[in-house]
Amino acid sequence: MATTPRDTAANQLLEYSRKHEDEEKTMTTSFGTPIPDKNASLTVGYHGPILLQDWILLDELSHFSRERIPERVVHAKGAGAFGYFEVTHDITHYTAATVFSEIGKKTPIAVRFSQVAGELGYPDTVRDLRGFAIKFYTEDGIWDLVGNNQPVFFVNDCINFPSFIHVMKRNPKTHLRPDYDMFWDMISLRPETTHTALILFSDRGIPASYRNMHGYGTNTFAFVNNHGKLVYCKFHYLTNQGILNLSSEEAQKIAGVDTDYHTRDLYNAIENGDYPSWNFYVQIMTPEQAAKSPYDPFDDSKVWLHADYPLIPVGRFVLNKNPKNYFAEVEQIGFDVAHLIPGIEPSPDRMLQGRLFNYGDTHRYRLGVNSLQLPVNSPFKVHSYTRDGRSTINSQGGTPNYHPNSFKGPENDRRAQALSPSLPLSGVAKRIDNGNDDNFTQARLLYQRVLKPDERSRLIQNIASWLKPTNSVLQDRAIVNFSKVDESLGQQIREELNSYVTHHVDL
Ligand code: HEM
Repeated sequence: MATTPRDTAANQLLEYSRKHEDEEKTMTTSFGTPIPDKNASLTVGYHGPILLQDWILLDELSHFSRERIPERVVHAKGAGAFGYFEVTHDITHYTAATVFSEIGKKTPIAVRFSQVAGELGYPDTVRDLRGFAIKFYTEDGIWDLVGNNQPVFFVNDCINFPSFIHVMKRNPKTHLRPDYDMFWDMISLRPETTHTALILFSDRGIPASYRNMHGYGTNTFAFVNNHGKLVYCKFHYLTNQGILNLSSEEAQKIAGVDTDYHTRDLYNAIENGDYPSWNFYVQIMTPEQAAKSPYDPFDDSKVWLHADYPLIPVGRFVLNKNPKNYFAEVEQIGFDVAHLIPGIEPSPDRMLQGRLFNYGDTHRYRLGVNSLQLPVNSPFKVHSYTRDGRSTINSQGGTPNYHPNSFKGPENDRRAQALSPSLPLSGVAKRIDNGNDDNFTQARLLYQRVLKPDERSRLIQNIASWLKPTNSVLQDRAIVNFSKVDESLGQQIREELNSYVTHHVDL
């Protein structure tokens, strides 16, 4: 009988044992003492009870029961790798960030890909956005660019994010997902979701692999140059492997056979020396252009049109190293949008503003107060006044733990001071719902100008197949929004739905 060849990932243990053939190691407890017998607990006679003094067993069991930590509340399922970012073009006139300081400069990076809504064991090939987060280990500290594989996001005020995630996740009563009523209820009530929904249901809603997709910082950031001049910017990273997607049918089939399809692909590619790479670009908008922009440049449900704000090449990044231990380096990696370096600043983007708080907060819960001392999260140097807390590793020697002091403690950084922009702010504090700011013009451009006819018809089928299980009131409401993108889009979704039996429910 013919056998399927084993891939690199399947041979991981075999490879390990080959490489370490000549080594002889003996076992220890986690506190380093030798273990006489790993396969027998300490009992009183053959059938006697196990003794509490069996500290070898206690060491094993107590660690085991704490092996899992809370999974990420979103983006739980993912894969990670390491590599470097290299500058290929000069953008020092826009930013003083040292990561971009000279052509040819290389900075080590970590990348984590993920899907958004599923839990840790969820199949990789579901229809969902994909996370694409990059950690730059720069000489000025950690810069985390926590992006997705789509240039826009569903909602544009951070206060709506938890509700939006709830409708993507499980129904709290039935514990089932997707719950089509929850999903379409929110999508149809918040029309700013339309633009991203079109991308979700397009071919790009299910990438063929993590290597075959682009990445986007999505939110708007700001650059500050050495003269203190501020411009707004968006980040794009375009795949050199080409865009490849899976059809819904292919994806469903794969999900039944290999839940870790994307994770396996990434691991094997890197292990086999087929290193994936992306080219890195920025878009730049001056504050004067932002003030006159016909669309809100700080609204993440909108793109900046490339015709007006072209992609400016900056560099490339390559992933050439798999993690040595998944848990230590991928499960425990923490990307935080607030990890910015001098020369890169936030913008008034409302989603970004909420994210600046939320990631550090969730890390303190998920990973603990000292997660930045874990090797994968740790910057090259830290001279701070924070101390102690659970799992402290770095005590910072004998330097003073208070400021100001007279004992050579670290002082303010002059360069960072010069690069901190003065932001003129004024206004009346007020809750202003921004969900109705022209949600259809850009979605229309995407539908009419970007998508080809065959892509449009697959989009319609995908939307209809998700609309089919919900009730007719929500279907009608969703179709009203899709018709505002393009009359014929709404019509064709309606026609496609007419081939199914739908359930009418009064709401
Ligand atoms: C107000 C809006 C948002 C909030 C409150 C939020 C919150 C979170 C939280 C709590 C996590 C889990 C982090 C962890 O446990 O380490 C997370 C992960 C993530 N978020 Fe967001 N998020 C928001 C919007 C976005 C947007 C717009 C994007 C994309 C541009 C995005 C991309 C990601 C990615 C890629 C991850 C996974 C990071 C990793 O691989 O560890 N998020 N988000």
